[in-house]
Amino acid sequence: MDFALSDEQKMIQQMARDFAEKDVAPMASLLDQKAQFPSQHVAKMAELGLMGMMVPPEWGGSGLDTVSYVLALEEISAACASTGVTMSVNNSLYCAPVQKFGTEAQKERFLKAYALGQKLGCYGLSEPGTGSDAAHQQTTAKKDGDSYILNGRKNFITNGPHADAALLFAMTDKEKGNKGISAFLVEKETPGYSIGKIEKKLGICASSTSEIVLEDCRIPKGHLLGEEGQGFKVAMWTLDGGRIGIATQAVGIARASLEAAIRYSKEREAFGQAICHFQTIQNYLAEMATRVDAARLLTYQAAWNKDNNLSYSKEAAMAKNFASEAAVWCADRCVQIFGGYGYVKEYPAERYYRDAKITEIYEGTSEIQKMVIARSLLRDC
Ligand code: CAA
Repeated sequence: MDFALSDEQKMIQQMARDFAEKDVAPMASLLDQKAQFPSQHVAKMAELGLMGMMVPPEWGGSGLDTVSYVLALEEISAACASTGVTMSVNNSLYCAPVQKFGTEAQKERFLKAYALGQKLGCYGLSEPGTGSDAAHQQTTAKKDGDSYILNGRKNFITNGPHADAALLFAMTDKEKGNKGISAFLVEKETPGYSIGKIEKKLGICASSTSEIVLEDCRIPKGHLLGEEGQGFKVAMWTLDGGRIGIATQAVGIARASLEAAIRYSKEREAFGQAICHFQTIQNYLAEMATRVDAARLLTYQAAWNKDNNLSYSKEAAMAKNFASEAAVWCADRCVQIFGGYGYVKEYPAERYYRDAKITEIYEGTSEIQKMVIARSLLRDC
């Protein structure tokens, strides 16, 4: 594997870093405290070509590779994890599957504006009674002439309240288990589609999360994505890519925690010297830096495999599992190094701590990632 970044990749990283430092970071605390969706950042990310990074230019995207996406997303997430996940969901969980499985007509309607960042997409797999066990969907899609009629309730949908369209999964044939699941593209204006409960969350408070309710929601047959019965595979393929995005978000949070801890430990004095001179603090910083680098390398590996047409399901799960746990650990140490100041909202440490936790949960819990990794080992080794 070649870890050297191309000039183009370095340029994208720098461009995202400039934007993140100048525009995103200064607003992060305020948006978090007001639980305010970062609409202004989404508009700017659209201008910078960050909302459909891996989509070819003919469909409105930037035509870049996954490594470039990871480089940019780390910068945004280090500044504001809420903005990071908003970008990640549109890129990985919405645009990527529409690009891969969509027909020309579907791409015209459901991809172009989304990859350009003029519209926002979301992904609805989880249901109130079905999280990790995604094959046991309760949402149904009944064929009726040239339409499908969708009924059910999806929950924990990132971008849900702001999304113009959703990629949703529903049972077209319950008898067939996971092979009875199909994928659908549904626009927010469709009668029978509505936003249910909007979640109040521990962290990533500036991102939006809600239920999507489907009540006799009639959509044309042409909005089926992929083949009927192929939906579970569409969902799993999509999550493999999504997990690279969440691993990256976690790397961003872990790095931000480390950088804040270094800065603070050099400024803060105790017992007559800056606390960075104490061995305990140095041990924390050394361990944090090692976990950030290890998490980043696993994430680059998964992205690089994807770009080079190698299998990346196991690698994405490893990256997501390791990076999310690294983020939680680093944020925890960051709070500890800040002491009492780590616990108050005047400093960013407590936000990193709250934001890190979700990376161990969404797009597959740590326990699910281990299941994916172990199944792959037992199958291939
Ligand atoms: N790519 C393509 N196909 C895949 C696949 C993959 N990565 N993984 C599995 N499949 C296929 C299998 O090959 C199998 O096909 P066959 O039947 O033809 O052999 C089929 O799918 C069923 O596979 P499994 O038997 O492995 O399925 P399972 O029911 O045991 O579930 C699981 C596997 C890994 C646990 C899966 O259910 C899973 O990933 N669960 C977690 C779901 C998840 O991450 N939810 C988060 C939703 S998104 C979110 O968080 C909200 C947000 O907005 C951010």
